[in-house]
Amino acid sequence: MVKRTLVCPNCKNKVTIQGDLGEKIQVICPNCKSKGIFTFPGGKSGLKTTDNSFAIEVRGLTKSFNNFKAVDDVSFNVRTGEIFGFLGPNGAGKTTTIKAMLNLIHANSGEIKINGLDITKKGKEAKKYVGFLPERVAFYNNLTALQNLCFYAKMKNASKEECKALIEEFGLGEAVNKKVGKFSKGMVQRLGMARAVIGNPPILILDEPSGGLDPRGVVLVRDKIREMKNKGTTVFVSSHILSEIQALCNRVGIINRGVLVAEDTVSKLSKRLNLKPKISVELEKMSDGIVKAVKKVDGIEDVQIINKIINVVCGPKKKAKVIVAIEKAGGNIINLHTIEPSLEEVFMKFTEGNQ
Ligand SMILES: Nc1ncnc2c1ncn2[C@@H]1O[C@H](COP(=O)(O)OP(=O)(O)O)[C@@H](O)[C@H]1O
Ligand SMILES: [Mg+2]
Repeated sequence: MVKRTLVCPNCKNKVTIQGDLGEKIQVICPNCKSKGIFTFPGGKSGLKTTDNSFAIEVRGLTKSFNNFKAVDDVSFNVRTGEIFGFLGPNGAGKTTTIKAMLNLIHANSGEIKINGLDITKKGKEAKKYVGFLPERVAFYNNLTALQNLCFYAKMKNASKEECKALIEEFGLGEAVNKKVGKFSKGMVQRLGMARAVIGNPPILILDEPSGGLDPRGVVLVRDKIREMKNKGTTVFVSSHILSEIQALCNRVGIINRGVLVAEDTVSKLSKRLNLKPKISVELEKMSDGIVKAVKKVDGIEDVQIINKIINVVCGPKKKAKVIVAIEKAGGNIINLHTIEPSLEEVFMKFTEGNQ
């Protein structure tokens, strides 16, 4: 949602309007009642991915620095229109993979296709489909936010109006004419996100988009990713904020020490790891008798007590038995819910052995 202030061509009255990028709205001047149509700049990109199944294909990617394999025979596909989370501990090889995907470094071996185009042979054409947020965002420090964005907008066939709207959308409206050299890290990151989405690219590649952002910035970025997905954009996002990724992504890939150790939905990975949901029961009062009774229930795997809450790891068939045991032991249940295995648990299991 962006705001715009228009000047009525008839009576010169100022009218402030709100809408989404690309949205067309009728504006009625509250002063002279003149009517007009205003289209917010931006909106759908003229470019569309042509390959219907995979927007990004990575096959056998290997990249070594001297004799150190930073990325070792990594293969995965990103389906068109999905949000794919790329996770891994620091130094796992995420940025190296992303740089190779965009042909910013030369891989030792492997094949990468963006929208069906080989990145090493048709890089220029392939990159037209991509909006990219690098891990270390850099701009021309002696140019303003608007001048910087306009520079990129030319390459993406986007207008100055769209740049202004994006600067405003990312909360930098007051800094539009400020030199980027005077920006804080978070402000540069916000401007980096604005640059990535200029021209509404059909594929977005974001390397740690939450890096350096305050909570409001994190929400802005998350909402923008959702908005882009709803427009049909494919999003590839690397992040270490697992709760964010769990809430956003259709599928995840987990890389550890240069090796892709998992690629699937969080729930399928949890099943593969045999991670069970927990039932979480809040009681009016906790007692040793209740804890003992629950621990005696056949087939439960773990019991955790946090004040008046009892968390029990068990299969779905054992839930009712746990509840009956609590009630028989005199427990008064005031709240009850199931906690599904988290991406954090999945991530920790797949990256075991890393400090
Ligand atoms: N230009 C480089 N020269 C030497 N080693 C590098 C270079 N770039 C990355 N590496 C190494 O490759 C590994 C993976 O790095 P990177 O892809 O940046 O990890 P991540 O993004 O997952 O944190 C690290 O051990 C890092 O030190
Ligand atoms: Mg990185």
